[in-house]
Amino acid sequence: MAKLIIVSNRLPVKLQEKEGKMTYKPSEGGLATGLGSIYKKDDNLWIGWPGMVVENPEKQQQIAVDLHDENMHPVFLTETEIREFYEGFSNETLWPTFHYFSQYAVYDQQLWETYVAVNQKYCDVILEQAEPEDTIWIHDYQLLLLASMLRERLPDATIGFFLHIPFPSYEVFRLLPWRKEILDGMVGADLVGFHTYDDMRHFLSSVNRILGHGSMHGWINMGSRSLLVDSFPMGIDYDKYAEIADSDEVKKREKVYRNNLSDQKIVLSIDRLDYSKGIPQRLRAFELFLEQYPEFHEKVTLVMLVVPSRDAVEKYKELKEEVDELVGRINGRYSRITWNPIQYFYRSYPIETLSAFYRMADVALVTPMRDGMNLVCKEYVASKHNDPGVLILSEMAGASKELSEAILINPNDINQVVASMHKALTMPEEEQKACMSRMQESLKRYNIHHWVGIYMDRLNYVKIKQMSMA
Ligand code: UDP
Ligand code: G6P
Repeated sequence: MAKLIIVSNRLPVKLQEKEGKMTYKPSEGGLATGLGSIYKKDDNLWIGWPGMVVENPEKQQQIAVDLHDENMHPVFLTETEIREFYEGFSNETLWPTFHYFSQYAVYDQQLWETYVAVNQKYCDVILEQAEPEDTIWIHDYQLLLLASMLRERLPDATIGFFLHIPFPSYEVFRLLPWRKEILDGMVGADLVGFHTYDDMRHFLSSVNRILGHGSMHGWINMGSRSLLVDSFPMGIDYDKYAEIADSDEVKKREKVYRNNLSDQKIVLSIDRLDYSKGIPQRLRAFELFLEQYPEFHEKVTLVMLVVPSRDAVEKYKELKEEVDELVGRINGRYSRITWNPIQYFYRSYPIETLSAFYRMADVALVTPMRDGMNLVCKEYVASKHNDPGVLILSEMAGASKELSEAILINPNDINQVVASMHKALTMPEEEQKACMSRMQESLKRYNIHHWVGIYMDRLNYVKIKQMSMA
């Protein structure tokens, strides 16, 4: 039977070794949590890195066996590959460039060469696992070259590619020394998907100006073959988040947290530690809010969960120091014996704890400088049921295109963010519920299953269309 092979740099589980014993923990990040709900079906397979260096071949074998039972297959990366491919080219070149932080981007030939070699390594592993009739679905910026590498070996294969981060405008993308090679890699897919229409337009414009291929209604004609480019805003597993939020365990946890925070209004902030998320800007806005609205002292708490991420990369280390310092300064300035304006947690939490946080939050403050989609804001909405709650959302997040009932802000406009916090904290409950229920309706409908369904339908349509064009 034909299977779906999902390929991403990171598997949805992370390997950890404790006292000589291997354990598997869920991975963080939208890609892993989003697709986590679908890969276990039928004979589907997820190929990716298990998140740890493992050199011993026997251990590698054991891990492959463990993962096999869970529909996964590992790609092992060496320390050098992690440094040069993962931390280096992926997260010091592509990530900053694609998020409009070009001033942070490193251009280094050695990192590029390792990036090419690791994409080739993924290609070789896939070739060992794939049957001719399988569908191969590649995900995200770490594997931009893989589609064309596979196409060379499997000319008729069905290959999809989806980018989970923004695709920048041509003026930014062109700064990359390897811009042509990157686009050549992506156009090996039959269907290239993005979260938003703008990302798709930016990609088509770069393909036109750098590769010289025009497009018509999203179709790029490469001469020997055609491919389609389209936008597919990713949804969440709505029912899962709604059900967990309604479980007795989560309600119990929420009560415990609530009791500890007495009758404070809770503003919630959850992200990986990443400069694209605008965490320092958010903290400065909260500080200004406390300055401008002293009547909210002892009445509001910012619960800020920051998940450790890419901590070997210099810019992430610097950001950690900046965030620690800001939290210390604000709490130092405003804390009372009975009140800390910011409750700061630097760690990751299981879904039940996140769900209790979502439930208890009066306001979710999601203010990235740039974000491909942002699933945290969708999970917040799904966890609210009939309860009130207000979402403040950055215009720079892909999700803002769908969630127009949120309070939309420009994260660079600190006064607007402060005003929106005040508006959110004083909004009548009826209005909160009305906005929430409209957003819930849309997220329930355009959930993760819908997303996978329309992407796969479109991919099949491309294959049929290609045959009629041949
Ligand atoms: N998340 C998690 N553990 C945590 C905090 C967050 O698994 O302690 C998840 C969260 O539920 C969400 C994902 O990480 O599904 C973050 O995805 P998002 O699209 O918001 O941002 P990304 O990290 O992909 O940039
Ligand atoms: C974002 C990216 C994913 C990545 C995740 C976590 O969601 O789009 O590709 O897996 O962040 O980052 P990490 O570097 O830990 O894999």
